[in-house]
Amino acid sequence: MKLWSGRFEKATDTLVDDFHSSISFDQRLYEQDITGSIAHATMLGEQNIIPKEDAEKIIEGLKTILADAKAGKIAWQTEAEDIHMNVETLLIERIGEAGKRLHTGRSRNDQVALDTRMYARAACAEARDLLKSLIEVLLEIAGKNLHTIMPGYTHLQKAQPITLAHHLMAYVQMFLRDRGRFSHAFDAANVMPLGSGALAGTTYPLNRPRVAELLDFDAISENSLDGVSDRDFLLEYLSAASIAMMHLSRFCEELILWNTNEFRFIEMDDGFATGSSIMPQKKNPDVAELIRGKTGRVYGDLMALLTVMKGIPLAYNKDMQEDKESFFDARDTLVKCLTVFTAMLRTVSFRPEVMERGAAGGFTNATDCADYLVRKGVPFRDAHRVVGELVAHCIAENKALLDLSLDDMKKFHPAFDTDVFESLSLIACVEKRDIPGAPAPNRVRQAIDKAREALAEEK
Ligand code: ARG
Repeated sequence: MKLWSGRFEKATDTLVDDFHSSISFDQRLYEQDITGSIAHATMLGEQNIIPKEDAEKIIEGLKTILADAKAGKIAWQTEAEDIHMNVETLLIERIGEAGKRLHTGRSRNDQVALDTRMYARAACAEARDLLKSLIEVLLEIAGKNLHTIMPGYTHLQKAQPITLAHHLMAYVQMFLRDRGRFSHAFDAANVMPLGSGALAGTTYPLNRPRVAELLDFDAISENSLDGVSDRDFLLEYLSAASIAMMHLSRFCEELILWNTNEFRFIEMDDGFATGSSIMPQKKNPDVAELIRGKTGRVYGDLMALLTVMKGIPLAYNKDMQEDKESFFDARDTLVKCLTVFTAMLRTVSFRPEVMERGAAGGFTNATDCADYLVRKGVPFRDAHRVVGELVAHCIAENKALLDLSLDDMKKFHPAFDTDVFESLSLIACVEKRDIPGAPAPNRVRQAIDKAREALAEEK
């Protein structure tokens, strides 16, 4: 029999039970639900809203249910609808009368908000930890490649020489920002909604700050309607997850490209690549491709919840039960992707010689050639044109700038001198970019130290 069956004359149609029951997915909230109920019962006893002995019995009963759930000994019931009513029904079965007092001054509406917030807090902390491990791997590889020259690109055309360390540190910045976003999402979730009741608070003298303290929340919600109908914290998690996935996906795209026979900048480890059923020579970067593909799922989860929330009147509506599958799917996907990506990155072998050869072609030192003329007093716009003509000449002759003789260069501008050759070497091009945020090795070393400091901070 349903806990709410009093006013009904008929049993719920089995089609409906099956349709609206959420136990198949919200059972993963059992620990949050039981811990939240223990805090609620503790407070109810302390406030003498229910007899102290009953509060104690409830707490004992809930602890046995928690232990059994952890041991996988509980068969959750679809007819009991969701995790909240499953736990309550079990409690009443196990301890009898006292169990019927647990739900005093509470609604499933504030209960589900509480459970989801507790789960979201843990998910934010977990995402921060996984991002930290990823950043640590990047910092390690970057530290070893401060002088590994590679071409930097714009429009996927070779642009200017940079270093592998500098390129990887760009991702470190992205993932550090992602960690910050998960901290914000954590703060958004860290507000205790119990006491909101169904929508209008409750007539019992609940001690809301006490429940917040028992469950380690920073604050209590300020408005009972908002307390039960706010899902911003999930949307913040989902948007942080979407942005983190977008970063991962971009990185994957680069690894896929770098792993091609055309680039050959990296070699994927055999453990993180797969073969073809027909083409014997193939070694495919499936892991990176799948992460790129799964990014769409997480965006979908964000869109799904934004859409669920956009048209529902205050306060709780059953539509909101749809929040959990999107959230859980995004969380599971993010965790899997971050874990496998970090493991894959650890095993990638980089080919510094190929990268450097790549940087030597494509006139990546052309800007430096113009800058050289500027240092000799030529206005930049003129220098740009002169070097453009030099490049056109080299293309016609199938040469690089450094293949030209000084006499060749002087034909284009008299300011060229013997020191031009040193100025156009790739290492000089990188080392001269010596301002904060630029690829000079000492600057990148500073960026690595700064990132390590940021990682060491709690939030
Ligand atoms: N299973 C519901 C959910 O996930 C719990 C809250 C139900 N409240 C209600 N009045 N039907 O949203």
